Amino acid sequence: MSFRRALSAAAVLLTFAACEQKKSAPSAAPAAGQGSAAPGAKIWFGHVGSLTGQEATFGDSTDKGIKLAVDELNSKGGVKGKQVDLKTYDDQGKPEEAALAATRLITQDKVTVLLGEVASSRSLAMAPIADANKVPHITPSSTNPKVTKDGEKTRPYVFRVCFIDPFQGTVMAKFAKEKGIKKVAILRDVGNAYSVGLADYFLSKFKDLGGTIVNDQSYKAGDQDFKAQLTAIKPKAPEAIYVPGYYTDVALIARQARELGIKVPLMGGDGWDSAKLFEIGGQAIEGSYFSNHYSPDDPSPRIQDFIKRYKARYGAVPDSMAATGYDAAMVAGDAISRAKDTTGEAIAEAIAATKDFPGVTGVITLDKDHNAVKSAVVLEVKGGKAVYVATVTPDAPAGAAPQPVSAPAPAAQPKPAPY
Ligand code: PHE
Repeated sequence: MSFRRALSAAAVLLTFAACEQKKSAPSAAPAAGQGSAAPGAKIWFGHVGSLTGQEATFGDSTDKGIKLAVDELNSKGGVKGKQVDLKTYDDQGKPEEAALAATRLITQDKVTVLLGEVASSRSLAMAPIADANKVPHITPSSTNPKVTKDGEKTRPYVFRVCFIDPFQGTVMAKFAKEKGIKKVAILRDVGNAYSVGLADYFLSKFKDLGGTIVNDQSYKAGDQDFKAQLTAIKPKAPEAIYVPGYYTDVALIARQARELGIKVPLMGGDGWDSAKLFEIGGQAIEGSYFSNHYSPDDPSPRIQDFIKRYKARYGAVPDSMAATGYDAAMVAGDAISRAKDTTGEAIAEAIAATKDFPGVTGVITLDKDHNAVKSAVVLEVKGGKAVYVATVTPDAPAGAAPQPVSAPAPAAQPKPAPY
């Protein structure tokens, strides 16, 4: 579904829900085991995520990261003397459900801050609702630049704690170039704002650096057969294929590429980050590279302590959604405690002023477009996991050309963590 169609479908459903409240409450289902939000006594965070569907690990990991942050905020006395609580809705990976869930969290559950989504297409569906209702919205990991923009204007209530795709695309273009790769084919998900944007940013930077895009193919999320596109790509003899999609599709694409005898590495972005990539992709995805928000291999104590706490609670190494989800909730907590009161206006103002916040995924400073200016990492799939290769730091504002791709892992961050 295109973004435009997703929004209008949501608008129709919302009108309907408003008229027929009893019969037709929005269908976004509350996550199991969560009580009803009682406004006033506590500060409520509302999370919208894909807990089911093709990108279920995105929502699940983010929710785990947020829950850990909420508990840590509460163990330090909460924010503004109040305990924080979390209400989560599953959007099943659908933009129209994400819009319904955002409306429900705002109008019914009266949350103070909205957190989510991972996928840009779904954050794009939530953002106008946050703005219209003056409820601050922080996306942990949506990287498409349009998420925080309303045309030319920055959305006053929408923020992110991650970098944006003009930077992420540049990181991989530069990495490819430094590996001596001159010819790249692209395979993009045309129904996904993130994938289309990232493909375009990669393409333009790679060409600027003197590279050639030998073929540019499309697919749609959920497709099972990518043979036609891969067959068209093969005779062009690319030295890598850039696939800025989400993990399930990417894993299938890798398998089918190998079946067709295509041996070159695939390259991609943060949408690859899931244990499922290795599970489904197996041998086929080995030796491929992707850009991401953080690496669990980073020796910085802040990251290693976070991994320890997360592992103790969930028995798994946090992926980048868990880490950005944690950071988004922590930035929300920090902003609320700094805000002069708990109105949406005051909190939005405090979030916008976030500066040098020591997050797990880097030091977070928001720019005038409400984007975090921070580094990216390049990872290689090796032995069934993502192994750290390099860190890339933006020059000045996010989106600017990065420094040369460089190893080793970054040193400890300048400010001590608040926990
Ligand atoms: N950045 C992706 C998007 O905007 C989502 C994503 C973030 C996926 C982090 C995986 C990890 O759609």
